[in-house]
Amino acid sequence: MLRDAMGAMPWLILAMSRLTNAACECGYSVNKTTDATFAVYTDLMENDFLHSAGDNVTEFGWRPQEYNVSAEDARGPYGKEFFVSNVELNPLKDAQAWSGDSEKGGDAGLQLWVRGDHSHGYVSGAEMTTVRDDALYGSFRVGMKLSAQNGTCGAFFWYYNNSQEIDMEFLSKQFNESQGVVNLVLQTPDSVRAGYDAANTSGYRVESLPFRPDEQFHEYRFDWSPESVKFYADGQFLWEMTEDIPSEGGRMFMNHWSNGDPLWSAGPPGADTAMTVSYVKAYFNSTDNSRNDDYTKRCSTFDASKVCQIPDVTQAPDGAKAQTYFFSQDGGDKAPDQTTYHTTNGAASLFASSSIYISVFAMFFSCVFL
Ligand SMILES: *[C@@H]1O[C@H](CO)[C@@H](O)[C@H](O)[C@H]1NC(C)=O
Ligand SMILES: *[C@@H]1O[C@H](CO)[C@@H](O)[C@H](O)[C@H]1NC(C)=O
Ligand SMILES: *[C@@H]1O[C@H](CO)[C@@H](O)[C@H](O)[C@H]1NC(C)=O
Ligand SMILES: *[C@@H]1O[C@H](CO)[C@@H](O)[C@H](O)[C@H]1NC(C)=O
Ligand SMILES: *[C@@H]1O[C@H](CO)[C@@H](O)[C@H](O)[C@H]1NC(C)=O
Ligand SMILES: *[C@@H]1O[C@H](CO)[C@@H](O)[C@H](O)[C@H]1NC(C)=O
Ligand SMILES: *[C@@H]1O[C@H](CO)[C@@H](O)[C@H](O)[C@H]1NC(C)=O
Ligand SMILES: *[C@@H]1O[C@H](CO)[C@@H](O)[C@H](O)[C@H]1NC(C)=O
Repeated sequence: MLRDAMGAMPWLILAMSRLTNAACECGYSVNKTTDATFAVYTDLMENDFLHSAGDNVTEFGWRPQEYNVSAEDARGPYGKEFFVSNVELNPLKDAQAWSGDSEKGGDAGLQLWVRGDHSHGYVSGAEMTTVRDDALYGSFRVGMKLSAQNGTCGAFFWYYNNSQEIDMEFLSKQFNESQGVVNLVLQTPDSVRAGYDAANTSGYRVESLPFRPDEQFHEYRFDWSPESVKFYADGQFLWEMTEDIPSEGGRMFMNHWSNGDPLWSAGPPGADTAMTVSYVKAYFNSTDNSRNDDYTKRCSTFDASKVCQIPDVTQAPDGAKAQTYFFSQDGGDKAPDQTTYHTTNGAASLFASSSIYISVFAMFFSCVFL
């Protein structure tokens, strides 16, 4: 039957083969769907900051923050002030390359600056949050290189409220000749009771890293499920937390700051210093009904062959290894119905038009064969 129909309509073969080329209609998985354990997520948000240009970070799904915290409220000798201008895009000069000179000098990528002039009692720093606030469970990954100057805190985190927060925090004062440290934190009702201090709760772990985070880009990652949060560096498992796991939808944050507190950020540094982000990749479920309706439409019956496995990064994504995989840049239409961003290497925008093409065929198919 099907064969006859295709014989009569040879153009269908083309449509069919495009569809079976998989467009990840049923989502993105951590591990293979045939593995002992795996997780499937419906949505993605990918930023290739090596190839993101311009002066408006919000075009890439992030909002730089602008606010002040007094020294007293910041609980340090210095206050904190966050400026939009401390978040800067600095792509590679050569749009086709994955390493090399950047447009503004220094490491290519999105820069979060801490300024060296704190003569007025405030340290000027950077913070940004995702525009989307609907991420509930997922795998959250960042390629980044921390500041080499003693006295800043750099963080990649997910936040709903003060008792539902997942953090990876880096203190440059903790980096020594050969090693670094990451502070893994869950802010929980316990840490709120302890005055917003997770130090004595099960949601706090200081994990040493076999490298200095300020020397190369590395991938930091957390996988959040209803049962646990697992933390990774360059794909190596670091630690798992299983108590008071967040259960609401929220947003990702990144920040880089100092308040001179000798017990935490230390510093402040005496010269401008940046933390640089080469990419963010988040694969997650959404609390947004319209996103879930879209998923149900493109994956009306769950089909494991329409789930795409998220590749693991297992080596520092730096230098010759800086090129990493983006579904949103794949020529095979692997981000149907997802929001993708224009990059200087052209990949994402090229693909946006073909993803419309494929969903038109997908709709046609569901009418003909279902
Ligand atoms: C993926 O597999 C690894 C190794 O078996 C396991 O530790 C991890 O929990 C799995 N992840 C998920 C999300 O199931
Ligand atoms: C995420 O969404 C997928 C698709 O609806 C579902 O199969 C999966 O169980 C969800 N995961 C979690 C942790 O809720
Ligand atoms: C920045 O981009 C966002 C999203 O596209 C847009 O809403 C906003 O108006 C832009 N801001 C400026 C200053 O152009
Ligand atoms: C923060 O303080 C600076 C002066 O240090 C001022 O220029 C700025 O307007 C303040 N911003 C906010 C959001 O209050
Ligand atoms: C955070 O949200 C949860 C769920 O809505 C709520 O139970 C908790 O009290 C909130 N925590 C804080 C510190 O407001
Ligand atoms: C950073 O400075 C603090 C004092 O402010 C010092 O205790 C610490 O050892 C320094 N760390 C490094 C890596 O130099
Ligand atoms: C460097 O830091 C690590 C982790 O804190 C520590 O185990 C190691 O002994 C330190 N090495 C030196 C040379 O201080
Ligand atoms: C954590 O617990 C230890 C031992 O019970 C105590 O000495 C320390 O003051 C506590 N720290 C905080 C920040 O509560």
